[in-house]
Amino acid sequence: MANIIINGGRKVAGSVTIGGAKNSTVALIPAAILADTPVSFDNVPQILDVKNLQYLLAAMNVHSNFDQGNLSIDPTTIEESELPASAIKSLRASYYFMGALLGRFGRATVTFPGGDNLGARPIDQHIKGFEALGAVITEKDDVITIDASAHGLRGARIALDTVSVGATMNIMLAAVKAEGQTVIENVAKEPEIIDMATFLNNMGASVRGAGTDTIRITGVSSLRAQNTHTVIPDRIEAGTYMSLAAAFGDGVMIQNVIPEHLESYTSKLLEMGVDLKIGDDQIYVGPSKPLQPVAIKTMPYPGFATDLQQPITPLLFLAEGESTILDTIYPQRIRHVAELRRMGAEISSLNPGEIKINHSDRLVGTNVEAAEIRAGAALIIAAVMADGQTIIGNASHILRGYDRLYEKLSGLGVDVTIEGVNLINLMP
Ligand code: UD1
Repeated sequence: MANIIINGGRKVAGSVTIGGAKNSTVALIPAAILADTPVSFDNVPQILDVKNLQYLLAAMNVHSNFDQGNLSIDPTTIEESELPASAIKSLRASYYFMGALLGRFGRATVTFPGGDNLGARPIDQHIKGFEALGAVITEKDDVITIDASAHGLRGARIALDTVSVGATMNIMLAAVKAEGQTVIENVAKEPEIIDMATFLNNMGASVRGAGTDTIRITGVSSLRAQNTHTVIPDRIEAGTYMSLAAAFGDGVMIQNVIPEHLESYTSKLLEMGVDLKIGDDQIYVGPSKPLQPVAIKTMPYPGFATDLQQPITPLLFLAEGESTILDTIYPQRIRHVAELRRMGAEISSLNPGEIKINHSDRLVGTNVEAAEIRAGAALIIAAVMADGQTIIGNASHILRGYDRLYEKLSGLGVDVTIEGVNLINLMP
């Protein structure tokens, strides 16, 4: 059981370099099994999710090696095999093996990834896409079998009922190897989807329109990696450090960002009065100061990201007056509220997805629990702002997705200790 212990009260300063995007990485690793050649990535974040995905690859006889942000994967020896349910359940993104196995073998048998701390999280749109491509779906005892081996995968026209990152990615993974053309309408437009299309196209796929509402894919019989794919920077990690810097900082340079990916977020910070200097691939956040309250509503990209709703919360404590957050995408993302109250914050949530935040002069360190990754990020920022010591329990949720957290926080001057986790030796 991992804990993050922070002795608060010291303002952050200096610079921090953002790692590769978690949400790209957890899709790109399953996508690698579509290749008929070894595949390599760089700018891969050092997070627990990568370790768990490597464990799943190993179960398929796919050798991988991860060192200092460079990840090589050799899928040429892949075998169809049962995937360990414990690792599948450890991260929801393991559902990308459904699309990737379907593209590779024409069938996939995967343990249902289940719900998680964000609620039920249905996968009906993923299933709808696989069925449209010709797969027959059966479900028994928590295991889903998706089988198109009788007639092969065939291109289809699919209109998603909900804008879903996961469904868009998963359908792309299967459709790149389907016969003929697939048109997916009402797709998600997140930068991670463009990253995936770039990776697949560089291996010979034909994916057009990523970043717009409609993606058109012409299937190919083989994908071959020619060069190393560099994972895009993590806009959520960048937003988290920007919030920390604006909430309790003396001037912080955030390096390795794509500012366009953060536009809805930086607009909100500017609306609050945060001093930002936005460069080509870096953003400087000026010293903390009193701010204006704002209303935030989460939306699919390019709207305000649900993943940044919790990390921005501690910054709203600086505003004179009431700020509001409405999370329309994951209304269950309110589990940081009770913990922040325990630290003395003026914050409440009377209805799912609705949070009210008022000026909070003084936070005090205490024992809190990270219910999920972004709730944990909010608690880290609050802990840095608080007087005294905060012990954040259940911290493995945070380490699942934040690259080299100890190095980055301590590099900014935070008095932090992480105990109870060994990133090197994590395999379940
Ligand atoms: C991804 C991100 C997560 C982010 C979320 C929304 C990854 C690994 N995770 O999650 O960090 O918070 O996008 O930006 O990239 N839905 C359905 N049916 C489906 C699929 C989704 O109803 O078949 C609903 C979900 O319950 C949710 C909404 O659609 O309300 C968006 O979900 P989706 O974009 O699929 O999120 P994830 O891909 O799981």
